[in-house]
Amino acid sequence: MSYQPIKVFAPTNIALLKYWGKVDKELNTATHPSISITLDHYGSETEVCFRSDLEKDQLILNGKDIPHFPKVSKVLNALRSFKNSSLRAHIRSTNNFPTAAGLASSASGLASVTYAASLALELDLSAIELAEISKQGSGSSCRSFLGGFVQWHDKEDPKVSQILSPDQWPLDVYLLLVSRDGKKTSSTQAMIDCQQTSVFFKEWVRKSWELYPLFREVIERRDFKKLGDLSEKHCLLMHKTILASHPPIVYWSDQTLEYLRLVRGWQREGLEVFFTIDAGANVVLVCEKNSSVQLQSKLESLQADFLKTCIGTGPMVKWGQVVC
Ligand code: PMV
Repeated sequence: MSYQPIKVFAPTNIALLKYWGKVDKELNTATHPSISITLDHYGSETEVCFRSDLEKDQLILNGKDIPHFPKVSKVLNALRSFKNSSLRAHIRSTNNFPTAAGLASSASGLASVTYAASLALELDLSAIELAEISKQGSGSSCRSFLGGFVQWHDKEDPKVSQILSPDQWPLDVYLLLVSRDGKKTSSTQAMIDCQQTSVFFKEWVRKSWELYPLFREVIERRDFKKLGDLSEKHCLLMHKTILASHPPIVYWSDQTLEYLRLVRGWQREGLEVFFTIDAGANVVLVCEKNSSVQLQSKLESLQADFLKTCIGTGPMVKWGQVVC
């Protein structure tokens, strides 16, 4: 038995209420809920083909042969078990934005592999079921299966759900690239080290639970100012908790701080924008459509290296015959 190749696109997502802490390292269940926005056109394009002539799975990422890919193997094995299949997969994946630079490339990467491999195996799984499988490879990837504002809450059913669709609150998103290079400490390892050694970790989890209903409320009310305050607060709390790891983990650079200083100045002038930073040096800015022209011209006059997008609708099939 062999299957047809299939190619999909899965977007990345940027967390506002951030996931940082695992209850179960194998299943990637989270210590607290998280909420993200799915980006429109930045993510991973991935082609998967299951072939009887392969002895092992193969992954080519951004044109490079990757020898060892445990996160991807985990989701492939989970999907194969549905069909009792032993066929190996050939995977070709490309990110259209910097990889491993704190812009959630693992989220779009894992979501795209899971989605493409499930279709290539002719499995008929819902977005929620796919999210649960993908989560085993990268926790944050489970939020990339839905568009708009998405929450991941392991104590609810379904665990992943949409809070608002992109047209219910269309926001613009700017990715300010401080560095296009990959980071030295992977978020998986940093998260485990931080959880074991940071003196602030317990407080981080408690505070995240406390902020969760507030995030829900301001998103449902579409209160941009309050969402900005909460997002910046939670982001700074995460980086403080990470910094207190032993040995300390520092994701920011001087340029990161310079951008934060500039954003604070723009906010004082009345520009409605807020920042968030994932596990990397790059800064993500979010604004409403009516502030976007002003923000963009500020970034252009700084000659900043940035990518502009908006909140998007979620993954899609690029080509291939979807049989299920
Ligand atoms: O899913 P992982 O293991 O790549 O961790 C992602 C962690 C953050 O991006 C920092 C936060 C989040 O919720 O996406």
